Amino acid sequence: TTVTVLAGGLSHERDVSLRSGRRVAEALRTSGFDVDVLDADAHLLPRLAADRPDVVWPVLHGAIGEDGALRDVLEVLGLPYVGSRPAACRLAWDKPIAQSLVAAAGISVPASIALPQATFRDLGAQPVLAAAADWAGFPLVVKPSRGGSALGVAVVGETRDLARAVVDAFAYGDTALVQQFVPGTEVAVSVVETGGTVQVLPAVEIVADGGSYDYAARYTAGATEFFAPARLPDDVAERVAKAARGVHEALGLRHLSRVDFIVTDAGDPVFLEANAAPGMTETSLLPQAAEAAGIALDVLYRGIVESVLG
Ligand code: DAL
Ligand code: MG
Repeated sequence: TTVTVLAGGLSHERDVSLRSGRRVAEALRTSGFDVDVLDADAHLLPRLAADRPDVVWPVLHGAIGEDGALRDVLEVLGLPYVGSRPAACRLAWDKPIAQSLVAAAGISVPASIALPQATFRDLGAQPVLAAAADWAGFPLVVKPSRGGSALGVAVVGETRDLARAVVDAFAYGDTALVQQFVPGTEVAVSVVETGGTVQVLPAVEIVADGGSYDYAARYTAGATEFFAPARLPDDVAERVAKAARGVHEALGLRHLSRVDFIVTDAGDPVFLEANAAPGMTETSLLPQAAEAAGIALDVLYRGIVESVLG
């Protein structure tokens, strides 16, 4: 069986994707697949059309890879691939849209307001920012409404830092999300489908050294302390697992996803976002969750590929 892993691409998360892709390719080789790794560049389409691998695994984070665009192309080529279909990717990738669908499924979400850049042109920056701050209260979180790896994300404690945070978020796209800061325990929950069943892996708790799980905290070994499984009471862990499965289903995700929550002191999981192409690097969360569940990565990834082959 031939598997082509796609890694790299031109998103802001290119480096992360290269690292993730390498790890996935290694594990797939260990489980006996014939594995090729291709970058998502101008040569990709002719290569895929010529090679026609049995399965494509797009380990591409960020725009194109995670927003559904590349999967549209795989659909057109008629190649079976790991992961969610284009429509589900589009829903998960757009945080305000994902939040509204998840809220409709009865799962808590933070109060958020999406600010398209055009709003500022039409109304002026000061009144828009003042209204957003009044509404969300400080501290608040500003992030690009589409993005990953915490790029362009800031926790803002006071008015004078708000404009800067919004401008930074606009560096990644034309809509910024201003969101209520939810205090609690940050957890990431991976959902995988093998052998026809959906399995929720143990939640991984994130305690970033500097207090913020930013890009450096994500990809520097030792910069963040993880607890896998998360230090949650059993009943809360169950609620979190149920919510993760609920998000995976509400967004129509397939094969694998990672759903991120803040668990409040009252034990309520508040949805932050869902990742259709979760990080698979050596410091990433899904591999840690698999380890906590006692599942070897080569076995897990083989199971995922087999579920694509049917
Ligand atoms: N966007 C990064 C890769 C993640 O979700 O892990
Ligand atoms: Mg993400």
